[in-house]
Amino acid sequence: MTILVLLILSYLIGSIPTALIVGRLGYGVDIREHGSGNLGGTNTFRSLGIAPGVIVSAVDVLKGTLGAALPVLAGVDLHPIFAGIPAVLGHCYPVFAGFRGGKAVATSGGVLLFISPLLFVTGLLVFFLSLYAWKYVSLASMITGVYVHLFAIFTDDKVLSLGTFILCLLVLYRHRSNIERIMNKTETRITWM
Ligand code: G3P
Repeated sequence: MTILVLLILSYLIGSIPTALIVGRLGYGVDIREHGSGNLGGTNTFRSLGIAPGVIVSAVDVLKGTLGAALPVLAGVDLHPIFAGIPAVLGHCYPVFAGFRGGKAVATSGGVLLFISPLLFVTGLLVFFLSLYAWKYVSLASMITGVYVHLFAIFTDDKVLSLGTFILCLLVLYRHRSNIERIMNKTETRITWM
């Protein structure tokens, strides 16, 4: 398999619109017309409930893990972060759902899970601590994105550092509307924590 084919395959895996599929098949609804309209785990939790939210989040994480694992699976010499980024781009801009997808968080998490379980677990910790402190999933996601890049800077892996910088920028960019709502104090807060 060539690197180009691998990157395209990773993008296609990321493009599988999990939230759309679960919403349509399980509940007969288009999740893009509910809550924030985002095709992600958070909006699925918010609009459809715990079980579908967990399923969508888990599969979205898995898409990133699979994308990052492709070089090993295919015997191609490529850093897993570069194999995982197209999966995250596919999740955000899915060819199978009109290029309107999620906000890069869970799928990036899946990429990092493959590369460094320690980074994944500490990232989860940062996410839930931030969520507990401020009650905004979006803010917790952005803080986690920044944390992940800072963590990577302090490793010896310069490629990982570059890759997490790209992912962090993508996470922030995809949360533009959330940032606006947080400033306007109209962003939805979680109530269960
Ligand atoms: O992972 C996405 C989350 O950070 C924000 O989702 O639906 O509140 O815009 P949402």
